[in-house]
Order: sequence, then structure tokens, then C-alpha cells
Amino acid sequence: MSTFAPQPFNEARLHEFVMKAVGEMGAAMNAALIVIGDKLGLYKAMAGAGPMSSAELAAKTRTDERYVREWLAAQAAGGFITYDAPTRKYTLPPEQALALAEENSPVFLPGFFHIVSACMKDEGKITEAFTTGKGVGWHEHDQCLFAGTERFFRPNYRAHLISEWIPALGNTEAKLKADASVADVGCGLGTSTILMAQAYPKSTFVGTDYHDGSIQMAREAAKKAGVADRVKFEVAKAKDYPGNGFQLVAFFDCLHDMGDPEGAARHVHETLAPDGAWMIVEPFANDNLEDNLNPVGRVYYAASTMLCTPASKSQEVGLALGAQAGEGRLKKILQSAGFTRVRRAAETPFNIVLEARA
Ligand SMILES: C[S@@+](CC[C@H](N)C(=O)[O-])C[C@H]1O[C@@H](n2cnc3c(N)ncnc32)[C@H](O)[C@@H]1O
Repeated sequence: MSTFAPQPFNEARLHEFVMKAVGEMGAAMNAALIVIGDKLGLYKAMAGAGPMSSAELAAKTRTDERYVREWLAAQAAGGFITYDAPTRKYTLPPEQALALAEENSPVFLPGFFHIVSACMKDEGKITEAFTTGKGVGWHEHDQCLFAGTERFFRPNYRAHLISEWIPALGNTEAKLKADASVADVGCGLGTSTILMAQAYPKSTFVGTDYHDGSIQMAREAAKKAGVADRVKFEVAKAKDYPGNGFQLVAFFDCLHDMGDPEGAARHVHETLAPDGAWMIVEPFANDNLEDNLNPVGRVYYAASTMLCTPASKSQEVGLALGAQAGEGRLKKILQSAGFTRVRRAAETPFNIVLEARA
């Protein structure tokens, strides 16, 4: 029995919405298929290979033809690959190859679908948090969140960090080229720290994060990249990471995840060199909710519901800025912590980069 009184409705608009939702159902189901394609190397095997039959793809990837055929049909229905009916062959177009198969391309996307996977696995925890109001810490999520986040952000950092964001921070690039000390706070798996260490071999770097599992992985990554002599990774909270006199402190996509961003900002203020710069990379957002109601804002609000807001609520203060705080709100926090000069140094469609100085 319906629990609400029937209201007049527009049949065409209902049809339009249901069809939109059917598209969403396909997209949501395809998230799992993207993870499978990524894990088994299906997209990579198709990239640049020209038209392939399901048997050829299965043989190349040592997988079962029947499963692969069904997967291919779903990919073709969603426009991820093309299908040629006369030959029954499937092709991954070059644009899709860049987005799905090329790890080093600036638009490589599969990492995000591992984040989606973590969100689905952890949905029960978040549903419960809605009723209790309690938080769910970053560290409490399924393992696939950590590597997924790293793989999703890495292409963006590779494309912008060294070539655009650091040069936008006044005299910071010159200092890093000479001999500077840098703290990368909330560094996760340390990709941003390692990229900076590779670009500025005369400087030293410390990456910190409160999640010990991430720090273990960051240490391994530094060894693998051959920079472990100049990059240290330490488990520490943003409000008490060790060291001071840093010429650059960087926060990549983590300030809004913290329970007490103002407390963290005060600690940055204390640990920066007098003429040092604080770089805060945050998700792109406008100040007003109505101006974020677009595809990018939608992704961020959803991720914020599942990850960022619960993370912040799990910590002291629990300010819960959310991933769409916007520059105005962020600036107020930095100014309350004693930063007198705050400006937007750079932006991309996905990030704003703020520079704060004492
Ligand atoms: C979205 S991830 C970003 C990780 C990394 N900076 C990157 O860009 O790939 C947010 C990170 O902030 C860390 N974090 C959250 N609260 C923190 C706190 N209070 N102190 C230190 N790290 C924190 C989490 O453990 C997580 O690694």
C-alpha cells in the first residue's frame, strides 16, 4: 500500500526520468565491470590491438571466453568499445584506450572505480553512520580505497604538480631547485611526495599521514622510485607532524577530510619557515551549492557523503567541511589560523590550488 497521497504527474517527464535512471543503472553496474577489466588487463589487451573477437581477447588475457563475451557486450552497449556485427569483433577506440588502458595518461580513470568499489563494500557502515551521526575514519574503509585513490589522483598530479602548481607559488620553485625542506601532509601513498622528490633532487621531503597502512605503502613506493634517501614517510596527524622551518608544506586533497582543519592550519603556521608557502590542493568547488550542481560537483558530493564527511566526523572537532567547501569557506579557516595572505594560485576543472602565507 502506498504511504503517500497520489499526486498528479506528467507522464512524459516520468518517462524521461525513468530512462535517465536506467542509464544510471547501467553505469552503476558497469563500475564493477570496469574494475574487472582493469584487474584482468582486458582494456590494456585491447588498446592498439585493432578489432578483436571475444576468443582472441580471452586467449590474450588467459580468461574464460564466455565471461569475456558477456563483458564485451556490456562494454559495447555502454559505448566503452565499438562492435562490428558482420565480423563479430570489438575495438577499443584510441580515446577510450587513453582513459581506460594507459596508466600514464592524464585522463586515466579506472582508479576511481576502485574507489566506487570501496564505497559499495562499506555502504553498510555509512548507512549506520547516518543514523548515529558518528564518523567512519579513512582507515576503516576497504583496502581497495587506498590504491584506488592513489591511481585516480596520480595522473592529475603528474600532469599539473611540477609543471603548473609549484611554479605558481611565487619563489617556491627556485627554493626547491636549490635546497629546501618540504612536508607533504595527509600524503596517503606518497605519490605527490615522490613526484616532487624526483623533480627537485637537491631538496628533502617528509610525507606524513595518520593512516599507518598508507605510510607503509608510501615507504615501499619511495624505495621502488629510488628516492628513499631523500624522502621520509612518518605516521603522524596533521596537527602534530614532526619538524619545522619548512619552505613548503603541501596538503593534497586532505584538508577537508580532517576533523579539525583549523587546528591543522595552526600547526602548519608553526612549522613553516617565515617566508614559506603552504599549498592546499582541494577539489574544485564554487562557494554556493547551486553552482556545484553539475557532473563534477555530483561526483564530489557523492564521494564526500561516503568518504570525506564520515572521515572528518570520526576525528576531534568533526567540522565536516565536505569536499565542496569552496574557496570562501577554506579561506576563512586559513585566516583564523593566522594566514594573512591567501590566494588561488591555480585551478583545473577538478582542483583549486590555494597558496597561504603567514
Ligand atoms: C583523499 S586522501 C588523499 C591522499 C593523498 N594526499 C593523495 O592526494 O593521494 C586523504 C588522506 O588524508 C589522510 N588524513 C585524514 N585525516 C588526517 C589527519 N587528521 N592527519 C593526517 N592525515 C589525515 C587520510 O589518511 C588520507 O590518506
